[in-house]
Amino acid sequence: MLGSLTASSFVVLVLSGVILAANGPATWSYNGPMLFAAAVHFWALQAFFFFMMMHLWRVFFTGAWRGGRRETWLLGAVALIIAIPTAFTGFLINGDFYSQWNAVQAKDGLNATGLGWVNLPSAGQMFGMHVVVLPLTLSVVIFGHIFRVRKEGVVPPYPDRHRSEGKEDEGHGSTFGR
Ligand code: HEM
Repeated sequence: MLGSLTASSFVVLVLSGVILAANGPATWSYNGPMLFAAAVHFWALQAFFFFMMMHLWRVFFTGAWRGGRRETWLLGAVALIIAIPTAFTGFLINGDFYSQWNAVQAKDGLNATGLGWVNLPSAGQMFGMHVVVLPLTLSVVIFGHIFRVRKEGVVPPYPDRHRSEGKEDEGHGSTFGR
């Protein structure tokens, strides 16, 4: 259910983002309906990350990588890794003082790693990354993730230790990897 809520928030995020991108940056701050679309986009983002983290807790504590679900787990982890720069580039195209400061700091950081071609203060490059490259990649990864879940089915619970080992639970020990 938490994964479905994450996916639903992502749909709202994309739809509100399409409205914003179609009308262009000049409309975001001054036009009433666009302010509403921007607010929907912002809150869908909060919901998306909140539900993704709750989902991550759930799949971690139920050991949902078991039984051939390794690819499902990895695709989920890749989705999380791509979601972070997707959100960050959205923050950068706000164009206010905070986003400019972040862009310059992040540019220096990336330069130091040799990724100098990623020009974070360039609003055009960040716009392309935020509305096309990253969300499309993320959509493909989410599609693959959900496709794997549909194929494998939901992970069964961990075996009951009382029954599977035929002894009393001593109150310690790990169920990791079972
Ligand atoms: C873009 C973010 C994500 C979306 C939209 C998403 C969506 C989903 C959905 C719809 C399911 C079906 C079951 C459920 O609702 O819980 C699911 C299952 C699963 N997800 Fe995600 N997920 C995301 C991120 C992640 C992350 C970050 C991880 C872990 C690194 C992960 C690992 C898994 C695993 C292992 C399952 C299988 C659960 C089972 O078999 O019980 N997902 N995901």
